[in-house]
Amino acid sequence: MKTIKLLTEVPGPKSRALMQRREAAIPRGPYHATPIFAARSEGAVIEDVDGNRFLDFAGGIGCLNTGHRPPAVDSAIRTQLEKYLHLCFSVTPYEGYVGLAEKLNALTPGKFPKKTLLVNSGAEALENAVKIARAYTKRPAVIVFNDAFHGRTMMTLALTSKTHPYKAGFEPFPGDVYRIPFAYCYRCSYGLTYPSCKLTCASALEDAFKRIVSAESVAAVIAEPVLGEGGFVVPPKEFYSTVTEICRKHGILFVADEVQSGIARTGKYFAIEHYGVEPDIITSAKSLGGGLPLAAVTGRAEIMDAAGVGGLGGTFGGNPLSCASALAALDIIERDGLLGRSAHLGHRFEERAKVWRKQFSIVGDVRALGGMCAIELVKDPGTREPHPEATKKIAQYCYEHGLINITAGTYGNVMRILVPLVVTDEQFDEGLDVLEAALAHVSAAAPRKELATSNV
Ligand SMILES: Cc1ncc(COP(=O)(O)O)c(C=O)c1O
Repeated sequence: MKTIKLLTEVPGPKSRALMQRREAAIPRGPYHATPIFAARSEGAVIEDVDGNRFLDFAGGIGCLNTGHRPPAVDSAIRTQLEKYLHLCFSVTPYEGYVGLAEKLNALTPGKFPKKTLLVNSGAEALENAVKIARAYTKRPAVIVFNDAFHGRTMMTLALTSKTHPYKAGFEPFPGDVYRIPFAYCYRCSYGLTYPSCKLTCASALEDAFKRIVSAESVAAVIAEPVLGEGGFVVPPKEFYSTVTEICRKHGILFVADEVQSGIARTGKYFAIEHYGVEPDIITSAKSLGGGLPLAAVTGRAEIMDAAGVGGLGGTFGGNPLSCASALAALDIIERDGLLGRSAHLGHRFEERAKVWRKQFSIVGDVRALGGMCAIELVKDPGTREPHPEATKKIAQYCYEHGLINITAGTYGNVMRILVPLVVTDEQFDEGLDVLEAALAHVSAAAPRKELATSNV
C-alpha cells in the first residue's frame, strides 16, 4: 500500500490560510522548504492540516533519525513529564543529564576519559567547542573549511562558509577564523583528481601555517566529517588521518562537528568513525534529542575541564525532557539496529542513483555514506556547471507529488536525503520513485549530454 496520499492540491486551503497568518506574524527570515502546515506525524510520514499524507525525506533537517514520535521516546517524555520539567542544571542537578553525558562519553570514538556538556542547539555546541578549545590551548585562532556550515549565531557564522543567505548583511563577525579548501573531490579547489592528487587539500593545512596563520596561534581545526549544508561531500578515506596528524604535531585540537552527520546518520554513531581518527572534541545535536532540542559537546576530560566553574552552561541546556528523550532515542538505535539500517538505505539509494547518473545528464555526482545520501545536479556533466534551477524544480515536483525533501550545497544544486532511518524499504522505494519521476520530468526538456567521471 502506498504511503503518499494527496487529497487536495498542495498547499491545501487550510495550509494556505495558516501561511497568511504566518506571513503577518513572523519575519520572512525563517525559510520553509514546503508551504504545508503539519497536523501530525509518525515514523517517516507527515500528515498536513488538509489531510494530505507526505513521505518525509528531510526529517526536520536530520533531527529524526529514530523517526517521528517513536513510541519509546513518547513514553520516556511522558514518564519524565510526571516528575519535573525545568530545574536548570546549574541550580538543581538531575540524573538524566548525568546519564546522557555518560552515554555520549561511551559512544563517541576514543577510549580515553571524556566529559560532556549539554546545550540547546548545534550552533551553541559549536560556540562552546570554540570556547573550550581556546581555554585549553590558550590560543585564539580557529581553522575551518570551505563549504562548511556550523550555525547562525555570530561566532558560528564566522565559522560558516556560505555567504548567501547566511552571512551577507550580518557582518562583522568575530575574528581569528581562517578558512582552507575542503576535500570536495567533485569540485577540487586545486583542479586535481583523487588519488593522484595525494590529498593536496589535507596537506594544505601545513601550508596555511606559513601563509595564513601561525600554528602556535591555532586552538582548533573544526570540520564536518561529511559536509551537511555544504552538499553531503564525503572526503576520501585518508583525509582526516592527515589532518589530525598535522594537528597533533602542532598541539592543535581537532573538533568534529557531527551535528548533522552524527547519531547513526552514516551507519556509525559518528561519521568520523569511518575515518578511524579520534577527535579531541565532538559536537552533536539534531537527532540526539529524538525530536526535542538538545546538543552536546563531548571531549577529552582534561580539555573539557579547562573552562572554569561557571564558564560553561546556560538556563535551559540539557533540560530534563530532552535528556529523557535522547536516552530513549539512543536505546532505539541500538535495539532496532539503526546503524545497519542506515548502511542498508545508503546502498539501496546508491543502486538507484547510479542508474540515474547514466539516465539523466543533470545528475553530475552521486554521494552516500550510509543514510546520508545526495545527488549533485549540473547543467553539463563535462563542465560540471551547477544547476540550482533544476534542483529547485526537482524539490518542487517532489513536494507536489507527496515527497518532502530538501536541497543543499554552496551552489544550491544538491538534493539531500535525511530520511528517518525507521522508514520501511517499501516507503523508501516509493520516495525514490518520486525523486526519479522528478528527475525525468525536469530532464525531459534537456537533451542527454556526455557523462563525466564521478566519485561513486
Ligand atoms: C554541521 C552543522 N553544524 C551546526 C549546525 C547548527 O545547528 P543548529 O541549527 O541546531 O544551531 C548545523 C545545522 O544545520 C549543522 O548542520
